[in-house]
Amino acid sequence: MSEPASDIATNFPIVTLDGGAATGKSSTARGVSQKLHFLHVDTGSHYRALTYLLLQKGVAPEETDTLSSLLDEMKLSAGIDGNLATLLADGEALSVDDLRSQEVNQSVSAFAALPSVRKRLLRYQRWHCNLVRENGFKGLVIEGRDIGSVVFPDAPFRFYLEADASTRVRRRSEEGQQDSVVERDKADSGRKNAPLLCPPGAVRINTGEFTLEEVIAQICQIVQNAPDPAN
Ligand code: CDP
Repeated sequence: MSEPASDIATNFPIVTLDGGAATGKSSTARGVSQKLHFLHVDTGSHYRALTYLLLQKGVAPEETDTLSSLLDEMKLSAGIDGNLATLLADGEALSVDDLRSQEVNQSVSAFAALPSVRKRLLRYQRWHCNLVRENGFKGLVIEGRDIGSVVFPDAPFRFYLEADASTRVRRRSEEGQQDSVVERDKADSGRKNAPLLCPPGAVRINTGEFTLEEVIAQICQIVQNAPDPAN
């Protein structure tokens, strides 16, 4: 499965989940994908993967020319594990430990702010619509920071998850991770290119006020009760 040109006209539903760090996007997207038999795409893992690979090559975010040629050379494809699409770089998957290392947590926002990195991943992320079709999924649930605003601004089901800072910091330390969620959100919201924001018209859900199951159920209900656009 390698990456063809993007084609974003779809005849299946797309659910976008945006929000800051540790707002519950991944657990929610996983639950929604399993209940509705949708493909789950975690775009944060794409930014983490590129950050890991670029750090390994010893490139700094300021080295724009070297970065651009490395990004052009990278062959991105995807594997599918249950409902989850995973990024393969030159055919290789990366481990969760690599993607969630402290070094990646510290550098990912700086790499994610670069236009060359975002441009490369935008094409890759839209291409996942082909994977939905080829693998018989009923739709796509895709999470990140700019999904309802930039990647799929016309998606019919767009959500913005939020939770107060203390809840989010607690969640990350319960997962055993060292991660400055508030600083990362500040950098992601303040950047010029595709900043973290609540997309206009998206449904806001404060995940601190509900259980995970309740959030998943709210989203599934909205998707399942929507009128069929074909009728
Ligand atoms: O899991 P968590 O919410 O902490 O972060 P993530 O979703 O893994 O995203 C890691 C980082 O990737 C974010 O802090 C952003 O800098 C970047 N990102 C982005 O810029 N745009 C996206 N659509 C997704 C992630």
